[in-house]
Amino acid sequence: MNVSDINVTGHRQATSGLSVHQQFLERWSPRAMTGQSLQEVELLTLVEAARWAPSCFNAQPWRFAYLANGSAGWQELQATLVPGNQAWAAQAGALIAVISRREFEHNSASAPTHAFDAGAAWMSLALQASAMGLVAHGMRGFDAEAACRCLNVPELYDLQAIIAVGYPGRVEDLAEAYQEREVPSGRKALDEIAFAGGFQQLAQ
Ligand SMILES: Cc1cc2nc3c(=O)[nH]c(=O)nc-3n(C[C@H](O)[C@H](O)[C@H](O)COP(=O)(O)O)c2cc1C
Repeated sequence: MNVSDINVTGHRQATSGLSVHQQFLERWSPRAMTGQSLQEVELLTLVEAARWAPSCFNAQPWRFAYLANGSAGWQELQATLVPGNQAWAAQAGALIAVISRREFEHNSASAPTHAFDAGAAWMSLALQASAMGLVAHGMRGFDAEAACRCLNVPELYDLQAIIAVGYPGRVEDLAEAYQEREVPSGRKALDEIAFAGGFQQLAQ
């Protein structure tokens, strides 16, 4: 299969009173996936989108370690996820670890924005997945030490998140506890997070 063969479908139709690009409203984090292994070209396409993210000094501190479903190490990496993630991520087509380098390569100084930069890259990956009709669901629920061992992450790097990606599956095939959660989530109101002129501490 080629990337161009993938059926592009909008999963979510969130609404906004402002003219936000549809791609932001359509992306969400489903859990239902078919278990079909993702192909190398699809995984590289996702990382290619992430590669073009902006970063401080264009340092590109991100690294991506990926395992397709069924490949060597798959079971071991799955076992590092918390049970609540294993329950559905076992049906992912691949797991992609988002890793960032804590120091700049050019001078070994501490890179204060490495996590921020990796976050931008993950969002690019997520939007690319959504445009390809794929699920991309970020996870922080894992044993970080065990996952780093599994993936041979060097000491100088932080494992930020593991992304479950895959072909959209049927909600009915999810364990019952997850079926009712298989709906797009809402957001805080704009006036709770956007402050003209300076930060405003709102009454809780
Ligand atoms: C860094 C990060 C870590 C997350 N960790 C988990 C996780 O361990 N398990 C899970 O089910 N969802 C996880 N999520 C998914 C969030 O819960 C989800 O993105 C959020 O509820 C907003 O929903 P939406 O992505 O569908 O818009 C994570 C998301 C991010 C960005």
